[in-house]
Amino acid sequence: MTGTAEQANPLLEGLSFRRTPDPCALVIFGASGDLTHKKLMPALYALAFRRLLPTRFAVIGVARTEQDDDGWREDMKHAVQQYARDEFRQDVWDELAANMHYLSADFADEAGADQLEQLVEKCDKEMNLGGNRVYYLAVPPPAFPEIVEALGKRKSPTGWTRLIVEKPFGHDLDSARSLNRMLWEHFAENEIFRIDHYLGKETVQNMLALRFANGVFEPIWNRQFIDHVQITVAESIGIEGRAGYYEQAGAIRDIFQNHLLQLLAITAMEPPIDFHAESVHNEKVKVLKALHTPGPKSVVRGQYGRGFVEGEEVPAYREEEGVASDSMTETFVAAKLFVDNWRWADTPFYVRMGKRLARRETTIAIQFKRAPHPPFEETTSEGLRPNVLLVHVQPDEGVSLAIGAKVPGQGMTIRTVHMDFLYGGAFRTGMPEAYERLILDTMLGDTSLFTRSDEVEEQWLLVDAIVAAWQRDRPAFPNYPAGTWGPPSSEELLRRDGRSWRRN
Ligand code: BG6
Repeated sequence: MTGTAEQANPLLEGLSFRRTPDPCALVIFGASGDLTHKKLMPALYALAFRRLLPTRFAVIGVARTEQDDDGWREDMKHAVQQYARDEFRQDVWDELAANMHYLSADFADEAGADQLEQLVEKCDKEMNLGGNRVYYLAVPPPAFPEIVEALGKRKSPTGWTRLIVEKPFGHDLDSARSLNRMLWEHFAENEIFRIDHYLGKETVQNMLALRFANGVFEPIWNRQFIDHVQITVAESIGIEGRAGYYEQAGAIRDIFQNHLLQLLAITAMEPPIDFHAESVHNEKVKVLKALHTPGPKSVVRGQYGRGFVEGEEVPAYREEEGVASDSMTETFVAAKLFVDNWRWADTPFYVRMGKRLARRETTIAIQFKRAPHPPFEETTSEGLRPNVLLVHVQPDEGVSLAIGAKVPGQGMTIRTVHMDFLYGGAFRTGMPEAYERLILDTMLGDTSLFTRSDEVEEQWLLVDAIVAAWQRDRPAFPNYPAGTWGPPSSEELLRRDGRSWRRN
């Protein structure tokens, strides 16, 4: 094992540990797209700002748009000024931009691939990059095969090659399997980095720390002590001009299939024997395999109508540009899921996700069972609520534990109070963006925070079963006004079980 591989996972190390990847070239396909502007380039800038990039590093942007190196650099500089989390520093930018190049190419013909190969080799020779390459596929999936085949044929004989594949990874199980097969024709599994950017979020990784770095939680992290789990991925934004994609995807493919199921897997997984990628993937996939296909009554779908979000009137989904006026695409899903294993049998995992909901909030709430015998008279307590461990994935990143406490005074009145840990306050540092971590991990060859092929396939298996059941009926859409918490049937899903969605 090389030094780099041994040091691959920071969960094995203390906070001060600094990982520096090997020199390499990063090639971004889709260099004029939204993702590159809003996420990738700001992430590279943040890494440059903190001196986390390799000592010798080149970035090559590839897209069809005609422009030269200077034009692209200028465009990227504006993107960094607009979207980066750090102040703009000319010296940091100049150092990064000095080794940024642009190639206008179409991979439908071999010439484009050859041109890229020559450019990468030139950078490699000039900067002594050792043949190490990261290719980032930030393009729509139909473009994957041509690019992957072209790259596969031109692999560098020296150094390492890694391929980052953006979502959506397939449209269903069959297409995901074909995509995996196509990738394996040219790349080994450990060279493929399937992105689910939620795994790069600090708070999602903190769920692992919370569970496995603290002796206090693990003994009670099971069906004996936990009544149920609620996972919410709520967004107040709409589809942001992405009708072409969203009409095909809907909430189930956009969020449920990937981000939501990954959050669930991390919450429910067994402790891995170590934090190497293989061990973490093995435990997550066991959870995904144990997920019971929910019956039609356990899944709710919705689509937003007009409404008010944060005080502003917003159009219905069917009124968004590019959306069919009779669209049946769901913008909300809620479900009751069960993980059929020894730890979780009969413990519901209620999950919900949607666009144009009341506010942006991603949380994982672990609701514990009630105290077995409260010795207080009902009249003096406000109903003795059960304890809830709430992981705020975003915003207001942190963890909070709801406990019952005595209200000061003569009687024995109990009220729920919160013990809070807030990232901002505890560490006094800004939160890194998920893409910073994920790009760095790719350069380090660490796949722990990426999705393995079998995980993706298990996720699709469940989604395909849900979507197949949906073919049988046609709900009356829209069924929730924008700015609310989804359709009434979502509340009903929990009310039937004598429970309700958390409100704070
Ligand atoms: C993306 C989805 O994967 O995640 C978007 O395609 C969604 O529809 C986004 O808005 C949410 O990401 P975040 O990091 O803002 O929660």
